[in-house]
Amino acid sequence: MKTFVIANQKGGVGKTTTAINLGANLALLGKKVLLIDLDPQANLSSGIGFSQQYDKQSWDNKSEPPYKSIYNVLVEGASMSSVFVSTSIPNLFLVPSHLSLAGAEIEMVNMLTREQLLKKAISQLKESIDYAIIDCPPSLGLLTINALTAADKVIIPVQCEYFALEGLGQLLETTKLIKGINPNLSIGGAVLTMYDSRTKLSESVVNDVKDFFGDIVFQSIIPRNVRLSEAPSHGKSIADYDPKSTGAIAYRKLAQEFIKRFA
Ligand SMILES: Nc1ncnc2c1ncn2[C@@H]1O[C@H](COP(=O)(O)OP(=O)(O)OP(=O)(O)O)[C@@H](O)[C@H]1O
Ligand SMILES: [Mg+2]
Repeated sequence: MKTFVIANQKGGVGKTTTAINLGANLALLGKKVLLIDLDPQANLSSGIGFSQQYDKQSWDNKSEPPYKSIYNVLVEGASMSSVFVSTSIPNLFLVPSHLSLAGAEIEMVNMLTREQLLKKAISQLKESIDYAIIDCPPSLGLLTINALTAADKVIIPVQCEYFALEGLGQLLETTKLIKGINPNLSIGGAVLTMYDSRTKLSESVVNDVKDFFGDIVFQSIIPRNVRLSEAPSHGKSIADYDPKSTGAIAYRKLAQEFIKRFA
């Protein structure tokens, strides 16, 4: 199994959209894929259709969560297999997140080997999986550190917007530091997201990002496409929601490129 972390501490750059749609397309191409939602916002879990059944029920945040999540794994030592669920796509599995994870960083601080909790849990996974893909919150806190410690490759989504490269130095620096405990780790690639062909700005960001990262930038550039932003509210990947859309085509191409690169 190869483990990938989708990271960028900047918010709203397309981490979760990329995790869902890259994961779904890899599964549709026959790979066994495990999506791990490591963000307390749990956008990946609801976007792939998991927690929506619970969101419709009314329950307050103080009561016991209605399902087991990555929180139980990291804080209570539950096994990954015990929180592992299937999705509507064959070969695509999910370890869901829950809002309770927001408190986990504080609860984890006093734990021994606190940055290795996810790595340990993944290493004990019994299911046979080709690719594990971890979706991170927009920060370089303990959750993202856990993901970087558990991963083989970092995939960095970069939004085609002003200040696209801002903060990336910090992410690369953190990655270098983590190599001390996880020598395996390297940058697997950068994905350009929300490209708008009508603007000169998008074009210039593409050039800047290519100058910065070189040829690890994936050739498939993800366009800004409203269908991509609608799909999660239906709990579907773009491949299910609108397979002919420009967003669906771009993520399918990205998955093909990904398999070639990480075969
Ligand atoms: N290519 C795209 N075209 C149009 N909308 C997009 C595209 N990619 C993402 N979006 C939308 O932009 C918003 C941010 O995307 P997403 O949630 O994937 O980013 P994120 O990096 O995971 O955010 P966060 O840092 O909050 O976790 C979402 O509303 C999403 O639906
Ligand atoms: Mg996200």
